[in-house]
Amino acid sequence: MTDGTIPTAALGDGGPQVGVQGLGCMGMSFAYGPSDAKESRATLERALELGVTLYDTADAYGAGENEKFLSPFFKAHRDELVIATKFALSIPADDPTRRVIRNDPPYIRQAVEASLKRLDVDAIDLYYMHRRDVNVPIEESVGAMADLVREGKVKHLGLSEVTAAELRAAQAVHPIAAVQSEWSLFSRDIEAQVVPAARELGVTLVPYSPLGRGFLTGSFTNAEKDLTADDFRRHQPRFTGDNAAANAALLEPVRTVAEAHGVSLGQIALAWVQQQTTVHELPVVPIPGTRKPSRVEENTAATRIELTKEELALLEPIAAQVAGDRYADMRFASAGRE
Ligand SMILES: NC(=O)c1ccc[n+]([C@@H]2O[C@H](COP(=O)([O-])OP(=O)(O)OC[C@H]3O[C@@H](n4cnc5c(N)ncnc54)[C@H](OP(=O)(O)O)[C@@H]3O)[C@@H](O)[C@H]2O)c1
Repeated sequence: MTDGTIPTAALGDGGPQVGVQGLGCMGMSFAYGPSDAKESRATLERALELGVTLYDTADAYGAGENEKFLSPFFKAHRDELVIATKFALSIPADDPTRRVIRNDPPYIRQAVEASLKRLDVDAIDLYYMHRRDVNVPIEESVGAMADLVREGKVKHLGLSEVTAAELRAAQAVHPIAAVQSEWSLFSRDIEAQVVPAARELGVTLVPYSPLGRGFLTGSFTNAEKDLTADDFRRHQPRFTGDNAAANAALLEPVRTVAEAHGVSLGQIALAWVQQQTTVHELPVVPIPGTRKPSRVEENTAATRIELTKEELALLEPIAAQVAGDRYADMRFASAGRE
């Protein structure tokens, strides 16, 4: 699937090969303040040139706007890339902290048709359940997703922010190619149960927010002071108030390692996530999000960095010291249900 400069990894047992780093496209339409469409399009093209083939979106990002924005790029390069999108979540425009979650089969059918229409493609390569509605048995939801595979509307299935038990129950219904969950130097809760289950079941891990939503790059230190009024990160407890100041101090060892390699903080954060493939012995395909071609160059270059045992040991204590949860309401994250 890729002839670019970054290595490849499989999406699930026997699934397609993708560039070992994907691209998170959410910020191009949603959550992280104003975007420049021309620059975002240039970012997509540059990523593909560099061997990035997994592109991540969701119907929730800008209430369908992100899928529509990506459609021309996807269609122009249909055979060169893997389209990943998601259903289950909607975020009311008047309250970005609220979550409406639906996993029932009639909703899934309605959601896939709407995504296919917005993307304007015949099939979605990787279709994720974005969030779990605990009132619907996961077997029922995955059963409906499996029907979409049989009908050719979807090629592979994924789950986001599921627990190990939910992943096992899902896998008993239909093979799951990928679990997408937050994983970074600041967010390591999935290592306790989800990662071992994924390894055992042959599921690829797709870490989202591998740059800690940008915090690990040092580009902002306090969401309330540094980011625009509509930026989602202002609602995340770890990026505001006293927590933000305490967490900024935790970047010191990242800075030390970055200086030793002559690279940026963000590159060390990405190299650390990538290296979890060796630590935990499973395929790991992080999807850092950016809207700038120069940053996609910087981020993909991180696939060539190897951290020593000593450097990994220096970075090890960071996550346990992070102040504040990764979401205001942790019930929607796997760790909140474990
Ligand atoms: N499944 C889920 O529930 C879920 C949740 C969140 C995200 N996601 C997916 O995961 C993707 C990535 O996560 P994310 O975007 O939340 O967080 P991230 O990748 O950790 O960080 C993205 C932020 O970092 C900045 N950035 C990127 N590269 C940089 C660099 N080299 N130097 C300085 N800053 C840099 C970006 O700014 P610019 O854009 O301005 O470059 C953006 O503000 C999303 O796009 C989305 O597709 C999934």
